[in-house]
Amino acid sequence: MATLSKVNEQYSNLFGTAAMLLQSPGRINLIGEHTDYNLGCVLPAAIDKYIFMAIGTRADDAINLVSADFDDQYSASLDKLEPAWKLWPNYILGVINEFKNAGKYVGGINLVLGGDIPISAGMSSSAAICTGTAFALNKLFNAGFTKLELAKIAVAAEHNYLKVKCGLMDPYVNLYGKERSFVKLNCRTEEHQYVPFDNDQIKIVLFNSGVRHNFIKLASAFHTLREHCATGLALIQKHAPHISSLPEVPKAMLEILKPHDQDVYKRCLYIVEESERLERLCDDLMTGDFKSAGQRLFESHEGLRNLYQVSCEECDFLVDTVKEIPGVLGARMMGAGFGGCTINLVESEAVDEVIKRVKGRYNGSFAKDVKVYHASIGSGTEEVSLVSVL
Ligand code: GLA
Repeated sequence: MATLSKVNEQYSNLFGTAAMLLQSPGRINLIGEHTDYNLGCVLPAAIDKYIFMAIGTRADDAINLVSADFDDQYSASLDKLEPAWKLWPNYILGVINEFKNAGKYVGGINLVLGGDIPISAGMSSSAAICTGTAFALNKLFNAGFTKLELAKIAVAAEHNYLKVKCGLMDPYVNLYGKERSFVKLNCRTEEHQYVPFDNDQIKIVLFNSGVRHNFIKLASAFHTLREHCATGLALIQKHAPHISSLPEVPKAMLEILKPHDQDVYKRCLYIVEESERLERLCDDLMTGDFKSAGQRLFESHEGLRNLYQVSCEECDFLVDTVKEIPGVLGARMMGAGFGGCTINLVESEAVDEVIKRVKGRYNGSFAKDVKVYHASIGSGTEEVSLVSVL
């Protein structure tokens, strides 16, 4: 868990020059899971957990990458750019590759990274590395990309170098995150509105099941889920050619899918219902009805568990457990799924007791500890100096 100053120190010890420093946040997502690549809306926020980077240019074509947390290094050359045999360098190499594909000049770099976003926990450490790299290269080499273009570069890097067919949500919120606000991103229009979340009475607590999603399984799940959704949409479009994405489909029209593959029907039903829930939850936040907002989270979890089928036993247990604990307004699994965290809306004065009870029950049922994070909503990727974060 390297800090910014550790990353900076390692950079100057290894490369002997000053570096540009930046912090790139992880994210939570309140609702709208798996709706991004279906061109629906999502409601994420950047949080105060970060990937820290120290990065600088070189006079030659070398790319020297160092992971402070893995105590590992990787070197490559710009003229022979290709995916690395191990995972972590590819988040950076993939972004360099996209800059080159876009015809932008990128020279040699030295880069040290570290941070405190838990890995494979559904808080998007991967997008934090890709987007942070894109942000840094844009500055170092004056590439002139807009934030939206940088977010799309990060998505393309994951698609092409990591083979994970993720959507726009994570890089977008990584760049547009704002304190005390959720980002309601419409993935069709690629525009957002901020939804204020500024209430001392309600806390966002994450329980990490400790189940780390398997990378290969995740990549193949994204592929299959996208296929199910595309098949459902194509069947709908035969009857209703004006419909261009699943979130637009009126629920009654999903009947068309019932005689077909049950998995296709279930995935599409989930996307339609989740999109409706997101709109209602945004209204709840605007009117300050956190009880109702919490219910939407419980409903979302049921959809993810039974229809989209991306939850796991441990996350189901965590959500079922908190249903019985006073002070918990709502909870659901968060992120891609197959492990990671649940996100919980909890009344402030109940937080300590809720954590105690969840820990007790989880540890009594599984042979692992539940980790707890207090998510505080912060701003997007930015260049920092050691003075500004001390
Ligand atoms: C991952 C992907 C996102 C999104 C979520 C599920 O975090 O990177 O694009 O699809 O899963 O909502």
